[in-house]
Amino acid sequence: MKTTLSLSHAAQLETECLVAVVLDRGEKDKTEAFVSADKAVQQAAADLITSGDVTGKNFETTWLHKPTGLKAKRLLLIGGGKAKNFSANELRKLAGAAVRALKPRTLRSLAFVVPENLAAEEAVRAIAEGAIVGNFDPDTYKSDRKDQNVESLVIVVSGEQAWLQRALDEARILAASQNFTRELVNEPSNRMTPTILANRAQEMAKETGLKCEVYGADKIKELKMGAFWGVAQGSDEPPALIVMRYEPAGAAEKPVLGLVGKGVTFDTGGISIKPADNMEKMKYDMAGGATMIGAMRAIALLKPKIKVIGIVCATENMPSGKAQKPGDIQTAMSGKTIEIINTDAEGRLVLADGLCYARQLGCTHLIDAATLTGAVVVALGYANAGIFASDDAMYQRFAKALNKAGEKMWRLPLDDEYKDQIKSSIADIMNTGGRWGGAITAAMFLKEFAEDTPWIHLDIAGTAWMEDNKAWIAKGPSGIAVRSLVEFAREFGNHS
Ligand code: BES
Ligand code: MN
Ligand code: ZN
Repeated sequence: MKTTLSLSHAAQLETECLVAVVLDRGEKDKTEAFVSADKAVQQAAADLITSGDVTGKNFETTWLHKPTGLKAKRLLLIGGGKAKNFSANELRKLAGAAVRALKPRTLRSLAFVVPENLAAEEAVRAIAEGAIVGNFDPDTYKSDRKDQNVESLVIVVSGEQAWLQRALDEARILAASQNFTRELVNEPSNRMTPTILANRAQEMAKETGLKCEVYGADKIKELKMGAFWGVAQGSDEPPALIVMRYEPAGAAEKPVLGLVGKGVTFDTGGISIKPADNMEKMKYDMAGGATMIGAMRAIALLKPKIKVIGIVCATENMPSGKAQKPGDIQTAMSGKTIEIINTDAEGRLVLADGLCYARQLGCTHLIDAATLTGAVVVALGYANAGIFASDDAMYQRFAKALNKAGEKMWRLPLDDEYKDQIKSSIADIMNTGGRWGGAITAAMFLKEFAEDTPWIHLDIAGTAWMEDNKAWIAKGPSGIAVRSLVEFAREFGNHS
């Protein structure tokens, strides 16, 4: 989507579709409902608003053809909900909703009027991000797919041009990177093997100037990644250890941020095989890995002043004559021995060695992302991802990034009491912790491998794939966490 800024008056803009936000101000004077200060736009919609036909409630869309006093062919009024709750995070969704309202029609362009009650720069970011994310649809393999993408977005705004242009360029990078992640996650496992995932990472690295190395089974064994290999050994499809490095000139030696992703391109459960119902969804078990590849793309292009290493442990989890079995003992790269109770708890195994390797490469701070447990979906449903942190200061920083990115995660505990659940009688640790607190015991397992390095774990099992269409985003892969991770890296680079 082509995105540009326009300083012209909204009324003077020639466009297929002018979009303006209407807020619900409750009992207050209805004529104040409008957030655009543009008098002509206000007048064009005045009757609809004073009559109460347009209320401003969330995602309400009202189309007005040949609006009087405007050069636009249509005016789309979009409800932004309660005025007192309105923020850039709401605006991001409205821009997505506007694009998604245009898509099924023949409209290919829109001009979005920046609401007056937000900082212009913040509003430009939100509109561009929301529109680009909203433009994505996952129907890649439909033979009768019509390309219904919106081609052009004009953001109508006044202010310091250079700053606004920069905000727009950055927002474009963030949203395109999120969509890149969604594209990877959307692919089924026969078209997104570990090898293909590694190729996509390498292509991306080439385009953005990142270093990217891909290692196979030999290197995984040479590094003594027994936990990762334990999962990979059961599959005919070769595993891939993907290492992306962002090392900007002039960045300090430390900190080094390590982003570690679970890249299980298909999770059958292995010998502890999953039931057939919904097993097809396990193609998205590489979402954590795709998240880190998307985040590295944005980091490479936005160039924060901090070193970042991205690691993806990519493999299938298959049952076969070579597969690991319940009761087997694997020695992880760190030297810890793991009793495999359930081969379906494979994500924590590949991440254990990914985290250990990140530390060996010099990472001083670690974040992992993984579709790790069904239990986190039981605990938090689809609205919040689970977040765990071993370090409060690092968590506070990440919470700020979440807020800036408009993403929702809920912190869960890592108390020592939970460690008892993963004690093994034969090895150092077991890979499952029983029925209760499953998301937490999975995180406790990872903590053993992050050791004393400040670390955050994101369990995105319930949020990486959306079951339903939303007004602002298509169902399917969500790209959750990409924007927050990048905001975190940028902020960390500025103040570390
Ligand atoms: N990939 C799954 C977790 C998952 C579940 C992701 C639902 C997305 C949606 C993970 O590898 C898994 O199988 N976890 C098991 C762990 C159990 C065996 C301790 C689970 O959650 O059931
Ligand atoms: Mn599993
Ligand atoms: Zn899995």
